[in-house]
Amino acid sequence: MSFQFGNNIRIRIFGQSHSEAVGATAEGLPAGFGIDFDDLGAFLARRAPGQALTTPRVEKDEPVFVSGVTDGVLNGETLKVLIYNRNTRSKDYSELRAKPRPGHADYPAHVKFSGGNEIAGGGQFSARLTAPLCAVGGIILQILRQKGIEICAHIESVGGIGDVRFDPVDPQTGLFGQIKGRFPAVIDPAAGEKMKTRIEEVRASGDSVGGVAECKITGLPAGVGGAGFGGLDGAIASAVFGIPAVKGVEFGAGFASSRLCGSENNDEYYFDENGGVKTYTNNCGGILGGMSVGMPVIFRVSFKPTPSISREQRTVNLETGKNDILTVRGRHDPCVVLRAVPVVEAAAAIAVYDMMRG
Ligand SMILES: Cc1cc2nc3c(=O)[nH]c(=O)nc-3n(C[C@H](O)[C@H](O)[C@H](O)COP(=O)(O)O)c2cc1C
Repeated sequence: MSFQFGNNIRIRIFGQSHSEAVGATAEGLPAGFGIDFDDLGAFLARRAPGQALTTPRVEKDEPVFVSGVTDGVLNGETLKVLIYNRNTRSKDYSELRAKPRPGHADYPAHVKFSGGNEIAGGGQFSARLTAPLCAVGGIILQILRQKGIEICAHIESVGGIGDVRFDPVDPQTGLFGQIKGRFPAVIDPAAGEKMKTRIEEVRASGDSVGGVAECKITGLPAGVGGAGFGGLDGAIASAVFGIPAVKGVEFGAGFASSRLCGSENNDEYYFDENGGVKTYTNNCGGILGGMSVGMPVIFRVSFKPTPSISREQRTVNLETGKNDILTVRGRHDPCVVLRAVPVVEAAAAIAVYDMMRG
């Protein structure tokens, strides 16, 4: 089974964690666009496993373009990219066929696919599939950048340890390069150190921890998107919910806006020195009526703690029909948000570009 996104550009992601390869196809990208492969490689490296405090499954994540590219230029044919799975250890997962992991997709997938679903590495529910998402999203980020649109995410918090938040009105694009060069991707390096300590603590105790990513889109002109189901916020949320472990998305003041009065929440307008329409505040997160306002688009994404933890947990045994105990083996991320930051940027890029082509 593959899953797809987009009406104007059509992206399909396919494969499983331990299949020969994972991959993506994309239609509707602009023919004649030259891909910057160094930039794409650097982008994919930010998501790749094997970095400090992530899963020790080391994969180089080199994209192989099967079609759609000639001499580094998009040629108008369907773009098809594969990323081979080189470092698989399927035996770590054999017990999970009978004993589904609490918090992972094993049990509902077993029911949906009549027990035929691939268990190893989480099958098609694995975050491995975010590698091809980033391969296509990384190209679209380059296309958007050429139009003056920049997308950058950072780790807003891990287990309640907070980074500085983005300024909601100032584009701050000078900051983006610094954040992208950091791991963890934070605004305040001191917060990043505290997050690392917390992640190391939970990992040492056989546990995991969740976190929040915050994403900012600058340079997007007003009027992109539409009403109702055609909204920019809905498209971004839909793309972001395609990332495993996402449990919530909020734009601007988000849930907190429900506690404000209209006089506090409304973003009042003014003309800037160039005659452009701006708002003094940005509680709406840069989107009104499903359309961009011309201010930065800001949203936050909540990631749950990694489900695969090495502590004993209760589960069912689907072979014996009895309640059972499971200790998950295999190699896992103690905190998925560390590697999810570029994935959020890729998902946002795909959603924004799809809306711009509409
Ligand atoms: C970058 C990233 C890395 C992840 N790494 C792991 C992992 O190592 N082990 C694990 O059990 N889940 C991991 N997950 C989360 C699972 O894939 C996810 O929780 C699972 O597919 C169930 O989907 P749901 O949480 O969206 O309901 C990761 C998610 C992301 C975004």
